[in-house]
Amino acid sequence: MKIHQEELADVDRYLQNNAHWTLEAHRPHFDRYLRPIKQYVKVDPSTKMLEVGTGTGWFPTLCSMDGLQCRGLEISPQLIEYARKTAAEYGIEPDIHLGNLEDFDIGECEYDVIVCSNVFEHVEYWRTGVAKIFRALKPGGAMYFESTNKFSFQSGEYDGFPLYGWLPDRMRYNLRTAVHGPDIMKLGIDFHQFTHGMLRKEFKKAGFSRIYDRVEIAAEEAVSSELRRLAVRWSRKSPVIKALALTFAEATRFICIR
Ligand SMILES: C[S@@+](CC[C@H](N)C(=O)[O-])C[C@H]1O[C@@H](n2cnc3c(N)ncnc32)[C@H](O)[C@@H]1O
Repeated sequence: MKIHQEELADVDRYLQNNAHWTLEAHRPHFDRYLRPIKQYVKVDPSTKMLEVGTGTGWFPTLCSMDGLQCRGLEISPQLIEYARKTAAEYGIEPDIHLGNLEDFDIGECEYDVIVCSNVFEHVEYWRTGVAKIFRALKPGGAMYFESTNKFSFQSGEYDGFPLYGWLPDRMRYNLRTAVHGPDIMKLGIDFHQFTHGMLRKEFKKAGFSRIYDRVEIAAEEAVSSELRRLAVRWSRKSPVIKALALTFAEATRFICIR
C-alpha cells in the first residue's frame, strides 16, 4: 500500500458517513476500548498509547481531553487534516503521524497500549503489521484489536450486502471496484476477512504471551443487548457455543499482551 496525497473517493464517502458523529457521541466507543484494556494495563497520564489508523481522529482527541497521551498513525493525509481541524475546535492538537503501518517506524518497546480498531482489514501485509505492533509494545503492554469477522452475517465494510464477508477475496475486490470505482483498491478495501482462529494463531506466532478473545474480555454489564449477554454467558459454559458465537459475531476482537 502507498500513501496517496490526492483526494480519494472512499475517504470522501467515509467522511460523509461519519460527519454526524460528534466527539461526545464517540464516548461509548472510547469507553468500550479502554474498559478491557484497563483490566490488563494501568491507564493514566503517564501511559504511552498509540492508535493505528486514526480515521476522523476521535480516539486520540478524546484521550487528550481526558489528559491521556495517545499518538496516532494514519495513512490518509485527507483524514489527518480532518482530524486536526475537528480537534482544533476543542483547542486540541492531536499528535498524528502520516505513515503506513507496513513500513513506518513505530519503534521498539515504546508503548504501553496500541489500539488497532477497524484497521487491520485494510492493511495489505497484515502479518508484517502484527509483528511491528508486537515489537513496538513494552513487555506487559497491550494491543486492543478489532476487525472483520469473515462469517458474520452483516459486514461493516459493505453493510447493504448480506454475507459479504463470506465471498472469496477476489470476488469482494471485483464487487467493490464495480460499485465504488477503482480508487477503493488504493484505500478502503477490506483486503482481509479474518476469523478468530487465524488471528489467534498469528498473534501467538508474533510472540504475544497472553491472548484474550471477545468472550474472555466481555464484561456482561457492558454488553449492549440481552441476546449478546446470553451469548457471552453460554459461551463461557460451553466450548461449542463459544466456537459458534466467535464464528458468527459481527467482528473479531482481542486484547493481546506482549
Ligand atoms: C475504518 S477506519 C477506522 C478508524 C478508527 N480506528 C475508528 O475505529 O473509528 C480505518 C483507518 O485506518 C487507516 N489505515 C488503513 N490502512 C492503514 C495503514 N496501512 N497504515 C495506517 N493507517 C491505515 C485508514 O486510512 C482509516 O483512517
